[in-house]
Amino acid sequence: MNHKRLITAALPYANGPVHIGHLAGVYIPADVYARFERRMGKEVAFICGSDEHGIPITIRAKKEGVTPQDIVDQYHTIIKKSFSDLGISFDEYSRTTSKKHKQVSQDFFTTLYNKDKFTEEVSEQYFDEEANEFLADRYIVGTCPNCGNENAYGDQCEKCGTTLSPSELINPRSMLSGNKPVLKETKNWYLPLNDYEEFLNKWIIEGHKDDWKTNVYGQVKSWLNDGLKPRAMTRDLNWGVPVPLPNAEGKVLYVWFDAPIGYISFTQEWAEKTGKNWKDYWQSDDSELVHFIGKDNIVFHCIIFPAMMKAHGDYKMPTNVPAFEFLNLENDKISTSRNWAVWAHEYVEEFPGQQDVLRYALLSSAPETKDNNFTWKDFQTKNNSELVGIFGNFINRVAVLINKFYEGIIPAGNENAIELNEISKAATEVDQFLTKFEFRNALSAMMNLARFGNQYLQIEEPWKTIKVDEEKAANSLFVAIQIAAGLAQICEPFLPFSSEKLLKMFNSEKLTWQEVESHNVLLKTGHKINEASLLFSKIEDETIEFQIQKLENTKQSNKKTNLKANPMKDEIQYDDFTKIDLRTATILTAEKVEKADKLLKFSVDTGVDVRTVVSGVAESFTPEECVGKQVMILLNLAPRKIRGIESQGMLLLTTKDNGKLAFVKPEVKVENGIEIS
Ligand code: 2FM
Ligand code: ZN
Repeated sequence: MNHKRLITAALPYANGPVHIGHLAGVYIPADVYARFERRMGKEVAFICGSDEHGIPITIRAKKEGVTPQDIVDQYHTIIKKSFSDLGISFDEYSRTTSKKHKQVSQDFFTTLYNKDKFTEEVSEQYFDEEANEFLADRYIVGTCPNCGNENAYGDQCEKCGTTLSPSELINPRSMLSGNKPVLKETKNWYLPLNDYEEFLNKWIIEGHKDDWKTNVYGQVKSWLNDGLKPRAMTRDLNWGVPVPLPNAEGKVLYVWFDAPIGYISFTQEWAEKTGKNWKDYWQSDDSELVHFIGKDNIVFHCIIFPAMMKAHGDYKMPTNVPAFEFLNLENDKISTSRNWAVWAHEYVEEFPGQQDVLRYALLSSAPETKDNNFTWKDFQTKNNSELVGIFGNFINRVAVLINKFYEGIIPAGNENAIELNEISKAATEVDQFLTKFEFRNALSAMMNLARFGNQYLQIEEPWKTIKVDEEKAANSLFVAIQIAAGLAQICEPFLPFSSEKLLKMFNSEKLTWQEVESHNVLLKTGHKINEASLLFSKIEDETIEFQIQKLENTKQSNKKTNLKANPMKDEIQYDDFTKIDLRTATILTAEKVEKADKLLKFSVDTGVDVRTVVSGVAESFTPEECVGKQVMILLNLAPRKIRGIESQGMLLLTTKDNGKLAFVKPEVKVENGIEIS
């Protein structure tokens, strides 16, 4: 049995604060797991830090007219504080602009370089001659060939969701100077991922079919089936870790090369502070590595980083990579740019002392196997009915009654009472579920113990029996306080703040998980507990309405922004218009496009023919919702390949107030193929 656990949580980009989506899909589950493993007696290194390189940072800096360093300094501080306020028990929370990280990631690169693991490739990249800079895909804007959006980025059109490459943009322009960029040759270092296909197939496809989550396994399998290609590990940018080679001026490590190395450099920083040996965690069979991530990070943690570690040669592969799906907010996608989020730092301010309520609510709707939804009403119910009504109510009644009848001294009772088995049963169930990364089930197993305790008290009614059968009342309260003490122990990974309060209330100490699993009596007869103190309090309707109103305000202000119509495009002649062949059509079939979250593939009856059209509407409609819809199609748009599928035409779309897309359709149902003029 190995003794060490290296647990990592995806490094959040320091270009904005963290929100409930991040918390539910990475940080809270990772924290539960880390806390649980510590209680299992493992030596845990729970490692994270801010991802401070990459284009999202430079874009934000540019938008705000400050330096990238200003941005990361600001958000690193906010993010770090939010995590700490919410009890995320990182052993190390560092940042990728640290000196150590620069050295470790450069050394990693140099090792691969010296081992001849890179290929050098010259490619043509867009270059801004006025700014004298190569342009990252995000720095090139132009017209989307799919939907006509004039502000599509070089890697993606945010309007229709199509993945693009800069060369596909019509009229590309540089975001730096506004000029048309030119193509210029540049040399970069590539990791030939194709060389690692066999290794990845053996390790993951053959080795982890049964113990990795199906979403993770499935994504890796589909990437490998499609075949891997060499990927550039350096970029022509001026923000990042400089490439440690001569003649590599103006080049930095690809952010997805340096960021996962952050896990290693931060472990080293932690080890230096604590006198540990970092290699015991990264390079020894006595350790297991588990990466907690969101689903958009699967390829980086299951293909690219493992290939890098394999190329290096000294590193162990992760034992598991539990990836979570996404959390929506009030049935709408969480979005930083639309400010559609519940921000961690705001929650902490607006709900002081109620960190565990958020932890509980987010864990119980953790997007484990599919996207899930957070609503404020649901949050209120979870607090009022479950935490206050069941958990808090039970604990409070036990503590109050023991104080009232026995001056806080635990009375004698049957140490073999059958009900006491529920404590070890709950501990064992939590153990089994957490080992399988089933956080919601684990949380339910903990809560079921509170439910059991509550029902037990309700049946026993010691406040009544004390008047007629004192021994029975004493026994009931003896059993009940054991269950309460069990809860104080078992809830710790989930509700650490409440656990701490409870342990204080019961004058007891944190036990190992094995002790809880193997002991039915946690507090002896004669042990003195303290006065009852309130664990959870009711959240009133006004509080929830305030939060809902806050979101409503966001919606209204987004609406106003969206309503600002773009200026008119250049005038065209009537002849130009007549070239456009717009028709009515009907969607016959619709299906998702593999590995493209935003795309749907349609077969469309255009009246002229039945043809295939790919459209970026998957976040606004399910395929089922589209079938049968009458739409308008631009029929004579030259066909183009999207994700290997030839799209023949374009469906007309508009954007609703909530940012979702809607098909443009005739006012009344008409035949297919009718011309629109
Ligand atoms: O997706 C993200 O937010 C990235 N910043 C995650 C990086 S995880 C890692 F590999 F460092
Ligand atoms: Zn588009």
